Amino acid sequence: MRSGRRFRQALVLGFSALARPFTLSDFARASKGAVKRGLRAAVQAQARPATGISPEHFGLSREPSGELTLHGVSFASLTERFGSPLHVVNAARLRDNARRFMTEAARGPTSVDVFYSFKTNPVPGVIAMLREEGLGAEVISHYELWLAQKLGFAPERIVYNGPVKSDASLRDAIQSDILLLNVNHREELERVVRIARELGRRPRVGVRVTVGEGWSGQFGTPVAGGMARRVFEEAVGSGALDVVGLHAHRGGMLRSEADVTTFVDQALAFVDELREGLGLDLTLLNLGGSLASPSVRGLSDKEVRYNRTFGRDIAAPEPSRALGIERHVALISERVASHFARLSRPAPRVLLEPGRSVTSDAQLLVTKVQSLKADSERLYAILDAGINLADSCRSEYHQLFVASRCGGRSERLHALAGPICTPGDTLHWGVRLPALEPGDHLLVMDAGAYFVPFSTSFSFPRPAIVTVHDGQAHVLRRAETFDDLLAFDELQR
Ligand SMILES: Cc1ncc(COP(=O)(O)O)c(C=O)c1O
Repeated sequence: MRSGRRFRQALVLGFSALARPFTLSDFARASKGAVKRGLRAAVQAQARPATGISPEHFGLSREPSGELTLHGVSFASLTERFGSPLHVVNAARLRDNARRFMTEAARGPTSVDVFYSFKTNPVPGVIAMLREEGLGAEVISHYELWLAQKLGFAPERIVYNGPVKSDASLRDAIQSDILLLNVNHREELERVVRIARELGRRPRVGVRVTVGEGWSGQFGTPVAGGMARRVFEEAVGSGALDVVGLHAHRGGMLRSEADVTTFVDQALAFVDELREGLGLDLTLLNLGGSLASPSVRGLSDKEVRYNRTFGRDIAAPEPSRALGIERHVALISERVASHFARLSRPAPRVLLEPGRSVTSDAQLLVTKVQSLKADSERLYAILDAGINLADSCRSEYHQLFVASRCGGRSERLHALAGPICTPGDTLHWGVRLPALEPGDHLLVMDAGAYFVPFSTSFSFPRPAIVTVHDGQAHVLRRAETFDDLLAFDELQR
């Protein structure tokens, strides 16, 4: 009853907000579309301006004019020089995130080591900075293994994961004696054993397992039902492998202490089971990545639907309440140390594989408003970047700023559409921003994780990636040219 009353109230409010008298016959005639429009107006009439995350959180400065800058560099000057769209890497933030991991890893009671997950942002200039900060390499393909070697990662700084490993890549990994090769599943184990025997080598391996909630499917071997234990048994029984590790990557986003401790405890319970059942004393405990960026959160289908239909604001996450790098690493280190102290056994070395928590908030995407288009329902700002470059915006909260006018009241609801000819290319169905004008530049924050590797050259060449440091901009990857898009094609003569 109460929700029925609220619905009627919303309708009345909605229709009155549409500035036309509400009558019973109106109600009877109301089509689904009109009801939606009425509700949308009601939601809008009641909405308080959404508070987002501050530019300062991302290391941006607000000039007196309201313009945003990064280390003294304006986005207008960057796009003038390098074009739009444009990826901008905040080198100081990137290095700082990496240092925070390394510092905390060195501080805790367990030996913790950090391997950067290449796939998150595989730009060599980004990876090179992380290597300088001491991170190792977590790779999931022969290409990434090759890239790690080319960028100078020593073999003992490389971990190889992934559900698909070619024979050639396994040979390469085994011959180069990398720190750890994680076997994904039983069928892969047979190939690893065969290749190790062929090469006369005894590689250090781990087995990737899935524990409790989190990713499963093609990833790893489930602990539940004894499958993972049987793979370990076979690995040890082969005599061809040095079985030293357990790998578990939770997937999704770790946001709370409970998320972390539940996951770590499940992995530790299986380590104990392996010792009791197989007498196996693992020396490497590889706990994957998944720590959320403080300024990103996944959106539920319901919020996306409400946002699309009624323009209801999508709330920003609160970075100050995020788990954070230090707490995440400390929690794991303490949990592992106390577990093994209780058992009076030496703790294994812990390997972490962060991706998004290192790179996400250290990069932003600049995109230009090409034009506006209003229809009866929405005001579209049509951008030069859409799902070709920023698909994550459809399922995650990403803070947006207007580069030239920050701090004004957020006053207009916009839909943000991209340049790709599909209705699916709508990054946002309803976001309040200072009234946009053609030529404005929007900053899409937290573009450092899974934006570049998932980007496509769908009808538009991909943009440049630059880094800004100490008031200077440097190109990490130049923009694609039209010719680049034909570089692999054979043209008929
Ligand atoms: C095995 C493995 N390790 C690490 C990562 C990095 O995860 P994240 O970016 O969530 O930290 C991934 C991402 O998919 C992964 O599959």
